[in-house]
Amino acid sequence: MPLDHAPNVAIVGATGAVGQEFLQLLAERDFPINRLKLLASARSAGKAVDFKGQTHTIEELTAESFAGVDLALFSAGGSISKAFAPAAVEAGAVVVDNSSAFRMDDGVPLIVPEVNPQDMRDIALGEGGAIIANPNCSTIIMLLAVTPLHRKAGVKRMVVSTYQAASGAGAAAMAELEQQTREALDGEVTTQDIFPFQYAFNLFSHNSPMQPNGYNQEEMKMVNETHKMWHDPGVRITATCVRVPVMRAHAESINLEFNRPLSEAEARAILAEAPGVSLIDDRDRNTFPMPLHASGKDDVFVGRIRQDVSQPDGAGIDLFVCGDQVRKGAALNAVQIAELLVSQPAPAT
Ligand SMILES: NC(=O)c1ccc[n+]([C@@H]2O[C@H](COP(=O)([O-])OP(=O)(O)OC[C@H]3O[C@@H](n4cnc5c(N)ncnc54)[C@H](OP(=O)(O)O)[C@@H]3O)[C@@H](O)[C@H]2O)c1
Repeated sequence: MPLDHAPNVAIVGATGAVGQEFLQLLAERDFPINRLKLLASARSAGKAVDFKGQTHTIEELTAESFAGVDLALFSAGGSISKAFAPAAVEAGAVVVDNSSAFRMDDGVPLIVPEVNPQDMRDIALGEGGAIIANPNCSTIIMLLAVTPLHRKAGVKRMVVSTYQAASGAGAAAMAELEQQTREALDGEVTTQDIFPFQYAFNLFSHNSPMQPNGYNQEEMKMVNETHKMWHDPGVRITATCVRVPVMRAHAESINLEFNRPLSEAEARAILAEAPGVSLIDDRDRNTFPMPLHASGKDDVFVGRIRQDVSQPDGAGIDLFVCGDQVRKGAALNAVQIAELLVSQPAPAT
């Protein structure tokens, strides 16, 4: 470790869905921490939070919060990252940011440790402030499954459709889905504070802002972030993102066209060896990945691995994928980035 001590760590958004998962993962994985600072809005300041048997008090986030902080894990939304990540960098911290604020900025590596760890090799703790971006949750889950196949056969075109859970929109959205479900079953009018439509017993196009090209922002993130991480803007990608009334863990149907024929058996063998991937592909029992398999788990689950019958040259594969987007799609990926930071040597100057 380039630092001569375990890092001083700040969590920005410590009371949120991702922030709470950070705390669980840092404890579970015994991440080395010298001092821990938990930051959220003024609403939460003073709240007590347990971490590894010790009580920590939530502090209000301010520009002065980062003195002495080596590593700042941000998950409080894009506007908070934009407003406060520069102060953390100025104070010398490496920021790992879960929002979309800096993902497409030149000079900000966008990292999934299983996909492109080399892109963060110039950043080290204690060597000056920097920002590393965590990709969008749907992108991370997709790329865990698709990158190993891309490395072997080269993806030419990818068509993805998502089935996204409430937890992807934060703790309040999960509470709204639960409340609406009770209200709908009791025949009451459903409360709609977070989403503009009834969510319980319904589904709708992803709630991110609509773009001039007719795609929503979530869909274009999947396209643009994949191009950045694969260093290949030539791969053709299209996405349709949908919110489904599932509490936790996203699902994705992925259709792939490769540069060369790739058999179903070869695809299955590649995925069976892929880091962070588990197969659930039981045709006899008609059992494939489900959000309930993935909830609370680290791995991304892959199944329905089959030759695409619409591509007669054998260069097409279909997949169905499920991953816990609060975990691998957000907090776990960021903690893995932090683990790379504490294990990698300082860059040569
Ligand atoms: N949920 C996911 O699966 C997921 C996946 C990938 C990325 N992300 C990203 O992670 C971020 C957080 O998402 P989330 O789902 O954890 O949201 P969330 O459950 O709504 O939590 C939001 C957090 O931000 C804090 N916050 C809000 N306003 C603040 C302010 N003015 N100053 C300081 N802290 C403030 C909240 O503190 P209070 O409790 O004090 O309000 C809370 O800790 C977002 O950028 C989101 O896009 C989420």
